[in-house]
Amino acid sequence: MNDFVFHNPTMVIFGRGRTDEIGKVTQPYGKRVMLLYGQESARKSGLLARVGSSLTAEGIEFIERGGVQPNPLLSFVRESVEIFRAENLNAIVAVGGGSVIDSAKAIAAGVRYAGDVWDFFDAKAQVKEACPIMVVLTLAATASEMNNGCVITNGDTQQKFAASGPPLFPRVSILDPENTFGVPLDHSMYGAVDAIIHVLEAYLTGVSEPTPLQDRLVEGLIPTIREAADAILLDPCDYDARANMMWAASLALNGLTTAGVNDYNFPMHMIEHSLSALYDISHGAGLGIVAPAWMRDECSRAPRKFAHFAERIFGITGKDDTHVALAGIEALENWFRELGVPVRLGEADIPGADIPRIAENAVMLAKRWGMGKVYDAARIEGVLRRAD
Ligand code: NZQ
Ligand code: ZN
Repeated sequence: MNDFVFHNPTMVIFGRGRTDEIGKVTQPYGKRVMLLYGQESARKSGLLARVGSSLTAEGIEFIERGGVQPNPLLSFVRESVEIFRAENLNAIVAVGGGSVIDSAKAIAAGVRYAGDVWDFFDAKAQVKEACPIMVVLTLAATASEMNNGCVITNGDTQQKFAASGPPLFPRVSILDPENTFGVPLDHSMYGAVDAIIHVLEAYLTGVSEPTPLQDRLVEGLIPTIREAADAILLDPCDYDARANMMWAASLALNGLTTAGVNDYNFPMHMIEHSLSALYDISHGAGLGIVAPAWMRDECSRAPRKFAHFAERIFGITGKDDTHVALAGIEALENWFRELGVPVRLGEADIPGADIPRIAENAVMLAKRWGMGKVYDAARIEGVLRRAD
């Protein structure tokens, strides 16, 4: 096992009705806060009013800032930084999924930085400070509620880039599974796919020192997420299914499964981020398309790992690793289809003729994430052709 430091400072408050504690846990961090949310779901469900009452009950003033869109934009973050400063705010309460939480993180870093917030995403500056962030999670998917990363799209350059840093861990995240009952089924399933791919990236790309504990964590999370997704499709208000999905998704990218794993990378995310930078597609839907294609492309290079995945997750056995590996990938793809998640570019109305343009975009991120030597445009095009 590799040496590691594991330090995840986010306090998680998990359970039915725990939303009402947001005022109390915010109180030590801010008297005037930005209440950040997405388009309309939080207002329509009454969650926003509930959070507002909890803040008011603790004497906390708040400025509502709604309108974060999925695949959140730099322009919105920049405007929010200005508002935060003009209103003399001191903390952010994010009510939403990954897009809202990621925007909160970018704003939190931006308000404590003299330059342009894009510098953090463009590798021109490191996040050294951020204002405190509290979260009420509404969608189980990204684990942004329990990690220190954020992903923002620069609409001018069509770059969807990430920034991270220790100050970006939320101080407190409230995970109240009932807040996810209203997530539309398509987004619920995209969340399941996202969480599964988060653990699969390191499982399939980490170098081959034995990491049996980390492998088994992954092999426990994936079936849990599968069972929960299947149950949610039958009953979106199944509390236990929503609760299992919520906690599993948080654990899938909070540093736990990768602690001790060597030299892993995120090639599926690298390619997907170009899909959601260039097209109006949800991150999890983009992963449904990219993941089986990347796995088919990669499995001939390391068939044992992929065969191990097929054996452990789908119980597929056989003498020939490549054969078993391909059967496992097909089983995963078929399950994505059952969830209603697209698995081909055309199913998301992305024309095959665009593949060179997508690959060109992805190369920028490949270089940034240290994969530039392996993933040139030709290699990425090859992956995407498998999804055509
Ligand atoms: O905006 P509203 O009206 O709230 O609607 C949202 C949005 O349309 C809706 N929704 C969320 N909670 C709901 C709900 N609708 C009804 N009831 C609720 N309780 O769901 C839609 C999608 O929301 P979004 O926040 O965009 O989804 P998700 O949580 O999947 O976040 C995706 C973003 O996170 C990034 C992705 O790239 C993408 O930009 N990621 C962030 C990561 C991180 N910070 O660690 C890692 C991931 O790999 C990912 O890249
Ligand atoms: Zn993801």
